[in-house]
Amino acid sequence: MSPDIQSPDLCIGIVGTGAMGRGIAQIAAQAGIRVLLYDALHGAAASARETVVGTLGKLAEKGKITQAALDAAAAKLEVVARLDGLASAQVIVEAIVENLDVKKALFQQLEDIVAADCILATNTSSLSVTSIAAACNRPERVAGFHFFNPVPLMKIVEVIDGLLTAPWACEALLGLGRRMGHTAVRAKDTPGFIVNHAGRGFVTEALRALGEGVADFRSIDRIMRELAGFRMGPFELLDLTGLDVSHPVMESIYNQYYQEPRYRPSPLAAQRLAGGVLGRKTGRGFYDYGKDAAVVAEPPAPTALPARVWVSQTHPEWADVLREIAAAAGVEVETDYLPGPDALCIVTPLGGDATSACVEQGLDPKRCVAIDCLFGIAAGKSARRNLMTTPLTSTAMRDAAHALFAADGTPVSVVADSAGFVAQRIVACIVNIGCDIAQQGVATPDDIDRAVTLGLGYPKGPLAFGDALKPKLVLDLLEAMQKFYGDPRYRPSPWLKRRALLGVSLLTEAT
Ligand code: NAI
Repeated sequence: MSPDIQSPDLCIGIVGTGAMGRGIAQIAAQAGIRVLLYDALHGAAASARETVVGTLGKLAEKGKITQAALDAAAAKLEVVARLDGLASAQVIVEAIVENLDVKKALFQQLEDIVAADCILATNTSSLSVTSIAAACNRPERVAGFHFFNPVPLMKIVEVIDGLLTAPWACEALLGLGRRMGHTAVRAKDTPGFIVNHAGRGFVTEALRALGEGVADFRSIDRIMRELAGFRMGPFELLDLTGLDVSHPVMESIYNQYYQEPRYRPSPLAAQRLAGGVLGRKTGRGFYDYGKDAAVVAEPPAPTALPARVWVSQTHPEWADVLREIAAAAGVEVETDYLPGPDALCIVTPLGGDATSACVEQGLDPKRCVAIDCLFGIAAGKSARRNLMTTPLTSTAMRDAAHALFAADGTPVSVVADSAGFVAQRIVACIVNIGCDIAQQGVATPDDIDRAVTLGLGYPKGPLAFGDALKPKLVLDLLEAMQKFYGDPRYRPSPWLKRRALLGVSLLTEAT
């Protein structure tokens, strides 16, 4: 039988009062829930209580909560000196060290203390909920309750069904998460659950593009922020999280999925981790955070325009916009089927590279430049444009194309040849992984998108992102990348393929 989660008398126990335990305690107390705090380290629970009350005090000073709300929440927080002080709790939330054996031992001890219907929830982010539950006498009441750091600000919690968990336990935790003011989503016990699983595309594909020599990390970050609309570039994110945290997560999910190529980590990250170049926390990551670190400005765009430009018709709607941009810059636009002898040739690959587009269309590689049109190219519609050269594109033609597409003031990044430019390939990987999470039935399509927007701060969930770009285009893009690289990393998820072929939204569940 499930405890009454909405009861004003609800009491929860928190074991482990580090950063996560404190955050969970704060939002529970603010929701009017009685919270018992326990930590194995003597004095830690009391100091956690003080920290939480201090945080609430700051919120009251800033006028974000009233003094009465502060007093009420503080009165709900109690410290217990021994584990058996948690006997009256109806839900236990464990947030101790991330170690399977230690967690199993704790849950076994707790089973001797708490009531038979008390829910035992773990905040683990990388361990198997099923393994923890299997160590218990009543595995059906053991579930995952995965919050994100900092808990009060990251308003999402994943409720995880282990293989042995009874549905009532997760339903109660969904209610508890919502009572605490969070969006609660439900996921099956699989490596990375939803958010840490969905996050694999962004940084691993960016590292792959970097390792391939497509562009430097600054350019990749600028393109992902300004062209694809992400709040932070992948290398800024890696620096913020620290490679000591993110690289082991990349390795763990890759290995738990038995070397699934979609999650393949990068040797670049492994080497930087070995070298202690971790990110902000060590003063140096991809960017330099030392006190003498200089801001690296983008060099000014060249200004010498091409004499004439010819635009490939492979995507007629994009060609029209490109011709308008050229005409607005005062450049003569050639409209014949094939380019004249000295025209700059613009190609618009989708998932392919500049070289293949150039060769397929019988163009001169020295005069060929590709432009990424997938995310919008019209003046005022795009905060950045991304050009790409073949290995033989002349410097003069490259600079002329740069000048042309920067003439209306839009910043331009020029990168080396890459199947899928930068943004196309990274976004395609994000959408594809999101689709495969849906295909595996880890969570509902709506929950996948909600978890990713709240947990990762992406502009859209992976499925809505795919819908905005059109599923068929994302499918074409992935198939072209897979053809070019011959890498199963890019093979489209069956979920994406079927919905693209049927012409329906990626959020469509099977009937
Ligand atoms: P932390 O290291 O800051 O705090 C852990 C606390 O647990 C410490 O106060 C420690 O004294 C106590 N502890 C350790 N073993 C114990 C035991 N056997 N019994 C009672 N108390 C014990 O850890 P943090 O960052 O708060 O993480 C806790 C859990 O939350 C881990 O499972 C972690 O994977 C998970 N998590 C952490 C996130 C993060 O960003 N830090 C995000 C999501 C989940």
